[in-house]
Amino acid sequence: MLIQSLALTDFRCHASLHLALQLDAPAGGVALIGDNASGKTSILEAIYLLSRGVSFRGSSPSDVIRHGQAHALVVAATQQNGQSTRLAVQRSRSGFQARLDSRSDVTVLDLARAFPVQVMDPRAHRLIDEGPVHRRRMLDWGVFHVEHTFIQEWRQFQRLLRQRNAACRRGDQAQLRAWNPAFIELGERVDAARQRHLEALAGSWRQRVNTLLDGEHHPLIAYRPGWPRQLSLAEALAQSEQRELEAGYSVIGPHRADVRLQLDGRQVRHQASRGQQKALVLALLLAQLELVAESLGHSPILLIDDFSAEWGAGMRERAVAQLQQGPAQWISTWLDAPESSARPAQMFHVEHLSHPAP
Ligand SMILES: Nc1ncnc2c1ncn2[C@@H]1O[C@H](COP(=O)(O)OP(=O)(O)OP(=O)(O)O)[C@@H](O)[C@H]1O
Ligand SMILES: [Mg+2]
Repeated sequence: MLIQSLALTDFRCHASLHLALQLDAPAGGVALIGDNASGKTSILEAIYLLSRGVSFRGSSPSDVIRHGQAHALVVAATQQNGQSTRLAVQRSRSGFQARLDSRSDVTVLDLARAFPVQVMDPRAHRLIDEGPVHRRRMLDWGVFHVEHTFIQEWRQFQRLLRQRNAACRRGDQAQLRAWNPAFIELGERVDAARQRHLEALAGSWRQRVNTLLDGEHHPLIAYRPGWPRQLSLAEALAQSEQRELEAGYSVIGPHRADVRLQLDGRQVRHQASRGQQKALVLALLLAQLELVAESLGHSPILLIDDFSAEWGAGMRERAVAQLQQGPAQWISTWLDAPESSARPAQMFHVEHLSHPAP
């Protein structure tokens, strides 16, 4: 789904803002340029809100409402294979309301399905140097768009995990064993779907990394299931039962899965530079978006906040060139105008888009 136009009302510092995007070459890219605090990130945040119902800044949901106002409104006109859809999200202090054309009974799940958006913000390095939860979340987002039964299985698995953890806490061995068959069945399905997804994107990721880093590197990406690979989940659970009862929670399973990233035989987290890490994350998001685009048959959206941060001129140029080959419509923010060698197709100065409050 491509964004054709975007309107913000009382969203963060923007009393009223309107943005019209060219759709002839969506992978050409959009640059939102402006000084610190001009409201660039807020525009990306608004697009993200349309897809996820929450902000990527991790603040309280009502923080997006412009000071002194009752609600924030984001409206986008979108295009998908010649068909237009209007998406709207209104956030008030008491809650959130979404509309898809004339439908008002829209859930966050409906938004997520209709409008796939990924973000690379300055905290994207967390995907590399923080715990596995960020990597699992990223992986699951892709699987969600590619495999349509995944969300049900994932939700059932989470419910079961809570019940199983409660049995561990109570030291209830009989109940723990009673949950095991379903835990194994769902756990193996979640695991297999993630594994398929990672295998499907690995080749594209390696190629993208080498193009972005402009060299002959040996990038490696591997899925770790959350239990010893040489054992089945059933065998691993049987072996760890005592440990689980002592710990009071499920110590193994797909909820402990991770993705391991290496560059030239070394852990990316400890060895790669910040700029390299950012390139590895971009490559990962693009490889994943490629699968999502193929599966949905239309273009997803990638938001890139502070495009230049950590990157020199060469990396910026290679990153823009790679983004312009697809598979996503991408919208990025820049403090300084991009140089001619790394220039998105459409550029806006944020100060000129936003109308101050009357
Ligand atoms: N709810 C709100 N109401 C009004 N203004 C707000 C609200 N929330 C944040 N702001 C202000 O909006 C301005 C723009 O913030 P934003 O983070 O979008 O800027 P930015 O252009 O991305 O800046 P930087 O280049 O420093 O990242 C800031 O001055 C911020 O204080
Ligand atoms: Mg910003």
